[in-house]
Amino acid sequence: MLKPEIKTSLPGPKSKELLKKDEEYVSPSYTRSYPAVIDRGSGVWAYDVDGNRFLDMTAGIAVLATGHCHPEIVKVVQEQAEKLIHMSGADFYYPSQIELAEKLAEIAPGSKNKRVFFSNSGAEANEAALKLARYKTKRPIFISFFGAFHGRTFGTVSVSASKAVHRKYFSPMLPQVVHLPYPNPYRPFFGVPTERLTDTLIDYIENYIFTTIAPPEDVAAFIFEPVQGEGGYVVPPSDFFPKLKQLAEKFDILLIDDEVQAGMGRTGKMFAIEHFNVIPDIVTVAKGIASGLPLGATIARKSLMDWESGSHASTFGGNPISCTASLKTIELLEKGLIENAREVGEYLKSELLRMKDEFEFVGDVRGLGLMIGVEIVKDKTSKIPEQKLRNKILNDAFYRGLLILGAGTSTVRWCPAMTVSKEEIDIALDIFRDILKSN
Ligand SMILES: Cc1ncc(COP(=O)(O)O)c(C=O)c1O
Repeated sequence: MLKPEIKTSLPGPKSKELLKKDEEYVSPSYTRSYPAVIDRGSGVWAYDVDGNRFLDMTAGIAVLATGHCHPEIVKVVQEQAEKLIHMSGADFYYPSQIELAEKLAEIAPGSKNKRVFFSNSGAEANEAALKLARYKTKRPIFISFFGAFHGRTFGTVSVSASKAVHRKYFSPMLPQVVHLPYPNPYRPFFGVPTERLTDTLIDYIENYIFTTIAPPEDVAAFIFEPVQGEGGYVVPPSDFFPKLKQLAEKFDILLIDDEVQAGMGRTGKMFAIEHFNVIPDIVTVAKGIASGLPLGATIARKSLMDWESGSHASTFGGNPISCTASLKTIELLEKGLIENAREVGEYLKSELLRMKDEFEFVGDVRGLGLMIGVEIVKDKTSKIPEQKLRNKILNDAFYRGLLILGAGTSTVRWCPAMTVSKEEIDIALDIFRDILKSN
């Protein structure tokens, strides 16, 4: 069994050289968590240019559903690259895009009677969803949630509310966006008891928001993440989405379900919203959909996605290589990786829950499947977020050869490839427990 192997000081000499050039030539706006210059990857293992081996529990920010360079993905990508790399779905047709649209129409929640718009990223998929909602309803307002992250285009950053730095000096944002608290069971808004979160919020929307700043006749859509990602891997109460759907239906408001991070099997179901038994009007996917190839998709029922020719398009969106990789990714997900995400995810969560009992500063362990957050706090009673300690834990992990990322203010996120085995999880957990012990 492989283990992380750090042979040089970090960053190693070759990495240092490249990091110097990066500083010179690459935009400093990227967040960049670690000084790791990755050269190649295989499964859950990533190797830097100095030959150091890291155990990757980030999957390239929840993108590599099938792990680094899955041989079946590599094979179909190579075959497709030899045949057709680009033609532009904006003006032409090619089989992989049509086949993928049919597959997504079939597997997304609701009947198969749907259409798909293809783009290159999560932000673009959400941008298309927002535009479609406006186009169809002719209504201006979007309702979104604090903690949300939907992307960085002007439209998607306007409905996001995760970090002030995403907005600072970029205003004005899209007008007519209303943000509401997300029902976070660990941190209930305004001290509302957890079991009253859903009803309080629904009542607040209907009897306060709708009667003051957002008349429902002017609201195009609610946009939400079924499990908040960048906001800290937050799972809302099980009755929240069903009740939000009821409210939306009452006023003909659309539901946009952003599955960019939680979707494509990561939570143990193909779409995270399936855990809540709700059929949204528009579903967006990206990240995990094509095992690392750039692809976004916006999926809606036919009667909704009937905008006129020329109203929205993309030169690169749904490129033949990405679509081919996506078809293979979905096949692998259906053939066992979703099941693996469920099984190994449960194991990972139960082990992390044991650490919650062990360490006073582990305030909460939550999540579905292989989308698990560990919130680091001052102590269990005060629940004060400990961002410095969380960052130190991430940093210590890096120097031990374990790649994990943060999310939200003080959460450690676990989002490994869905190919991960229990044995690989055990290696990661041993290192993680050691680090918690030393802090
Ligand atoms: C839920 C969600 N939506 C949208 C996005 C934006 O995706 P992209 O970075 O591909 O534009 C992200 C990225 O983290 C995300 O987590």
